[in-house]
Order: sequence, then C-alpha cells, then structure tokens
Amino acid sequence: MTRINLTVDGAKVSDDVEPRTLLVHYLRETLGKTGTVVGCDTSNCGACTVHLDGKSVKSCNVLAVQADGADVTTIEGLAQDGELHPVQAAFHECHALQCGYCTPGMIMQSVDLLKDNPNPSEDEIRVGLEGNLCRCTGYHNIVRAVQTAAAGASEGGQA
Ligand code: FES
Ligand code: FES
Repeated sequence: MTRINLTVDGAKVSDDVEPRTLLVHYLRETLGKTGTVVGCDTSNCGACTVHLDGKSVKSCNVLAVQADGADVTTIEGLAQDGELHPVQAAFHECHALQCGYCTPGMIMQSVDLLKDNPNPSEDEIRVGLEGNLCRCTGYHNIVRAVQTAAAGASEGGQA
C-alpha cells in the first residue's frame, strides 16, 4: 500500500492505496464519488473524465498514486454554493443528454475545452469532445449546450 494525499472537490483526503489502483476506482470506491462513472475501462469513452490540476484526464487511465499531491475536481465538485456550473446548466437547458451516462465526462471535458477556447466553433467543439462517446444523443444537443455555455460566458457569465 502507498499513502497518497490529495485534494478532491475542495476537500483534503489521505488514504492508503494499492499501487495498481486506478484513480476512477479510488474516487468511486474509497471516496464514494460515484458521479464519475466507468464506461469502458480502456480509455475509449471519456465517461470517467475528471480534472487533475485543472486539466481534463480520463481517470481510468491514471493511477491513484499519480494523483498524489494533486488537486482533483469531479463532476460533484463543479456546482458552487448550490448553483450549477454554467456548463451543467447549459446541458440541462439544451437537453444535452438522454441516459446521462456520458454526461459527467462530457461536462468535465467541455469545461476544460471552454477554458482553453472560450469561443469555439462547432468543429472545434466536436474535435474537443472526440474522446467522449455518447451512445444516445447524436451529439447535436451536446454541441448546442457547449455553444450556449460559451455564449453565456461572453455575455458576462462564466464557463
Ligand atoms: S471509463 Fe475511462 S475512458 Fe471509458
Ligand atoms: S446520454 Fe446516454 S451515453 Fe450520452
């Protein structure tokens, strides 16, 4: 076992983990952060996307020990003071989900995308989300949600 110390959704945590434990399993099984989901376990679907020191990563592709000392944000840490993050609100407003399984990862990836490119074109959104698979929506409303969040941010909100 290896001791890791990190911050998850604003709270400092410290745990003994096996060196082979994946970050996604640590988040879900040790910390109970089940908002982060596993869709494939092979780095294909993006459902497990979280932010590691502010950058999106597929948490099934990161060992928990690699997150030692890091700041991790999951979908559960995105809302602030009871208010949905603007990207969460835009997904809700645009009905950018059906079963919702891909949604946590889609939102985390979209937040990172908009941080790097606050006014993305439709093509840039599609490329930015290419590592996140959705089996339900056809992607159209997801793209619209990202555009809506971007427009809200440029009108003075924050994405
Ligand atoms: S569960 Fe991580 S990419 Fe699919
Ligand atoms: S809403 Fe079902 S997988 Fe995307």
